[in-house]
Amino acid sequence: APGIPVANVKAHLARLQSIADANGGNRAHGSSGYQASIDYVKGQLDAAGFTTAVKEFNENGTTGYNLIADWPGGDAAHVVMAGAHLDSVSAGPGVNDDGSGTAGILETALAVSRAGLKPTKHLRFAWWGAEEYGMVGSRNYVNNLSADDRSAIDTYLNFDMIGSPNPGYFTYRHDPALDALFRDWFAARGISTEQDFEGDGRSDHAPFQEAGIRVGGLFSGADYIKTAGQAAKWGGTAGQPFDACYHAACDTNANIDDTALSRMADAIAYAIWTLSASGS
Ligand code: PHE
Ligand code: ZN
Ligand code: ZN
Ligand code: ZN
Repeated sequence: APGIPVANVKAHLARLQSIADANGGNRAHGSSGYQASIDYVKGQLDAAGFTTAVKEFNENGTTGYNLIADWPGGDAAHVVMAGAHLDSVSAGPGVNDDGSGTAGILETALAVSRAGLKPTKHLRFAWWGAEEYGMVGSRNYVNNLSADDRSAIDTYLNFDMIGSPNPGYFTYRHDPALDALFRDWFAARGISTEQDFEGDGRSDHAPFQEAGIRVGGLFSGADYIKTAGQAAKWGGTAGQPFDACYHAACDTNANIDDTALSRMADAIAYAIWTLSASGS
């Protein structure tokens, strides 16, 4: 897999920040900032040759939107999916939550296009709406899959907060093989990971997991406190949250650790390349 240029990921974050700035400071479900953000991400994917679809759903009388992007080719009966939520809370621009996952999978998708990747399996990327209202968009997507479409999804990978300013390196622990895939990638670079407990069941992988689809993902921490042991192995500040600006107005462009973001994005690309190349 190629390295993912962190400057490109940061450029997407800068765009998401300026879109929020121009739209009342956020991209919350139902807002103009959300619509403008969908337009930005979709425009990038369309220009790169993805087949995109904006899928509408309804939540409390407000229309929400998921953005689904398919990379043409690969075995449609074996789908590898990666997702991130595109909505923010209304308190702020949500650059780490979840601009980071949004930009990380967007740049991975663009890398797929640049490489002209011809995966064995079919690749699909998703940007979810209304995660902050309880994973509404992702749940709507899973609920509306036919039985065949559901069983065709071999793997769903979720990336929600991957650039926390006082970062941890957490892997989702639900599927041992996916956990090991990420753990080994980090271990080869001298970084020890821990299994995630903070985020359990609280992001868009939950509906997939409940539907019996195997799920994995990465997480750099939210409002849990970094321990002394974690600071010793990962750097940063013990006794402080992984992200002190979680769900706050200060979750801006300044609220990102570039090293964590860069490593996480490279690990996403590695997982996508590896999982989509295998026949099983
Ligand atoms: N989904 C939570 C939020 O957006 C945070 C979270 C991140 C939970 C990663 C689980 C895993 O606020
Ligand atoms: Zn959130
Ligand atoms: Zn989130
Ligand atoms: Zn989980």
